[in-house]
Amino acid sequence: MNTLHHIQALREALAGPRRAGQRIALVPTMGNLHAGHLALVAEARARADLVVATIFVNPLQFGPDEDLDAYPRSLAEDQAGLAEAGCDLLFAPSTRELYPDGPDMQTRVRVAGISEGLCGGSRPGHFDGVATVVSLLFNLVQPDLACFGEKDYQQLAVIRQLTLDLHFPIEIVGVPIVRAEDGLALSSRNGYLSDEERARAPGLHLTLCELRDAIVAGTPAADALAIANERLVSRGFVPDYLALRRADDLGEIDADTREAVILAAAQLGPARLIDNLTVSLS
Ligand code: PAJ
Repeated sequence: MNTLHHIQALREALAGPRRAGQRIALVPTMGNLHAGHLALVAEARARADLVVATIFVNPLQFGPDEDLDAYPRSLAEDQAGLAEAGCDLLFAPSTRELYPDGPDMQTRVRVAGISEGLCGGSRPGHFDGVATVVSLLFNLVQPDLACFGEKDYQQLAVIRQLTLDLHFPIEIVGVPIVRAEDGLALSSRNGYLSDEERARAPGLHLTLCELRDAIVAGTPAADALAIANERLVSRGFVPDYLALRRADDLGEIDADTREAVILAAAQLGPARLIDNLTVSLS
C-alpha cells in the first residue's frame, strides 16, 4: 500500500486507474483505526478495483472546546491495518495541504435541515466541517463509491443529502455498526475511558435495546424515552440527547412512520459516546 501526503501525487496516482476504467472506492477516516473502520475498507474492497482510504483529523469539524489536539494519532499502526484489510492507497495530507489558507478558509458546505438538531444541536458547525471536508475529498479522489459507517447515523444522512444536492456521481454505501462483544460500538474515543468507565460503557447500547423492545411491545414512545433517559443516568451517563426519529430523513415520527431509528449521545467521563438502533414500527 502506497501512502501519499500531497494532492498532486494523489491526482497522478489516480489518473492511470481512472483512465483504465477502474472502479474507485473511497473510505474517509480520521485515523486511529479499529475494526469498525476496517469493515468499511473490506466493504470497499468487495465493491471496487481500487480502494483509497484517507486519514485526516479535520480541524473544521471540531468545536473550540473539543478534543482536536488530544485526538489519537497512530499513522504507523493505521498503515499496517489498512494494508492488511486490502487498501491500495492511503492519502494522509497535512492540514496545510488541504487548507493552504488555514482551516478558517472562506468556503463551507452546509447541508441545512438534516444537520440541525441531535449532534448538530450540541456541536454547532460540526456537520458543516464534515460536509466541507467530505466534498473536498470527493472532489480530489472522484471515487465511484464511498463507504461510511452507520455508527455516525446523522453524518451518513448528511452525506447522502449533499451527494444528491451537489450531484456527485458517487454511490454512498452505509456499513453496519461494528461492536465489541459486550455491545459497545467501536470508536476511537473509547480509548479515553478508564477501566471503570469502559465497564459501564455497554450500558448505552443496552439502554437503546431496552428502549427498542419497549417501543416494539407498544409502550408509548414518550414514556419509553423518559424511562430510557433515567436508565442512562442511573448507569452513569450524562445524556446529551435520546431521540426516536424517522430512519430515512431523521424527521419527527408520525402515525405513518414504519422505519424509525433511536439515536443517542451521552457523556461518560471524558468521552462523548454516540449510538443508534433502527426500529420497525407497526
Ligand atoms: P471517523 O470517526 O474516523 O470515522 C470514519 C468512518 O468510520 C465513518 O464513516 C464512521 O461512521 C465509521 N465508523 C467509525 N466507527 C465505526 C463502527 N464502530 N462501525 C462502523 N463504522 C464505523 O467520521 C469521521 O471519521 C469523519 O467525520 C470523516 C467522515 C472522516 C470526515 O472528517
